[in-house]
Amino acid sequence: MEIQLNKLKEKILSDLEKVTDSSAWRDLEIKYLGRKGELTKILRSVADLGEAEKKNIGKLANNIKTEIVAKFAAVKNIILEKSVNQSFIDATLPGQEIDRGHLHPITQVQNELEDLFTSMGFMVIGGPELESDYYNFEALNIPKYHPARDMQDTFYIDQKNKAGEYDLVMRCHTSPVQIRAMQKYGAPLRCIAPGRAFRSEATDACHDHTFYQLEGLMIDKDISIANLIAIIKELLNGIFKKEIEIRIRPGYFPFVEPGIELDIKCTICNGKKCPACKNSGWLELLPAGLVHPNVLKAGGIDSKKYSGFAFGLGLTRLAMMKYGINDIRLFNSGDLRFLEQF
Ligand code: DAH
Repeated sequence: MEIQLNKLKEKILSDLEKVTDSSAWRDLEIKYLGRKGELTKILRSVADLGEAEKKNIGKLANNIKTEIVAKFAAVKNIILEKSVNQSFIDATLPGQEIDRGHLHPITQVQNELEDLFTSMGFMVIGGPELESDYYNFEALNIPKYHPARDMQDTFYIDQKNKAGEYDLVMRCHTSPVQIRAMQKYGAPLRCIAPGRAFRSEATDACHDHTFYQLEGLMIDKDISIANLIAIIKELLNGIFKKEIEIRIRPGYFPFVEPGIELDIKCTICNGKKCPACKNSGWLELLPAGLVHPNVLKAGGIDSKKYSGFAFGLGLTRLAMMKYGINDIRLFNSGDLRFLEQF
C-alpha cells in the first residue's frame, strides 16, 4: 500500500505539472481528490488496515494528502494569475471621449449681447410668444385695418375671444414687450427683450417663419437719436470687435417718430460691393427710432416728461453676418453638420 500511495503521488504531481487552464485543473481535482477520487479511495481504505499498519500508512497517507492539496492550490494560483495578466486593463490609457453639446450660435450671440447691454445698465426681459392683437399691434400705434398691418405676414390664431374677434397672434416682432415693460416698470427704463418672432413667410435663404429679434428700449428725460447712435456703436464694436461704419436713412414704423434704418458697411467686402450686400456696400441691420407718444401713452408713461428710443435688432440676421452664414434656414434645421461648426 505504501508503494501504491507513493506511485499515486508521483502520478498526481506529474499530471498537475501539465495543467495549464482551470477546467483541466478542476478535472484533476475531481479525479484524485473528489468524493470518488483515487486518493480519497485509498485514504478511506486505511480504516480497514490492521492497528500497526494503520498507524504507519495513515500517517504517510495524511502527509501525502496535505502535500497534494497544497500543490493543487499552488497550481490554481498560477493559472489565475496568468488569466488576470491576459485580460489586463491599462487604467492609464485615455478613455473614450463623450460628445458634449454646446450652445446654439444664436444663443451665443444673444448671450454676448446680453452681457454688453447689462454692462450699460439694461435689464434683460421676456414676453409671451403667443400675443394679443392689442400688444402686438394696437398698443404699438397700429390700429385695426391700418395698412401698416400688412408690413408683416402675421400668423393669426383660429380662436375668437368673447367679443367674437380673432385677437391672438404669434407675435410677428418683439416690439410688444416694449409695452409690457413700460406698464410693469414705468420710467426711467432701460431694457432689452431677446426672443423669437414668427411670420407667415414663403421661406428662402433670407426668410424663415421663425427667427430671433432683440428689442431695445431706453426711456428717460431728454433722450435723443444721439443716445441711440452711441449705444448702437458700442454694440457693434462689441459684436464685431472692430470699428464698424454706419449709415442712417429715414424709415417708417408706426411706433416710432422719427423712424430710421441703420445700415452697417458690409462686413464681407468692406463696402466694395459684393453679392452679400446686393452690390450696395451696405447691410441693413437695425430699424429704430424715437418712441411715438401714443406708444408711451399705451405704456402708461407721460410723453411730456419722458422720451425714449427703441430698436429692433434682427438677431438671426446679425448671427448670419457675424459668422458668414448664407442660408437662414440652417439655424432651425437641427442639422449637426451645421451646428457642430460653432
Ligand atoms: N418691430 C419691427 C419689425 O419687426 C422692427 C422695429 C422697428 C423695432 C423700429 C423697433 C423700432 O423697436 O423702433 O419689423
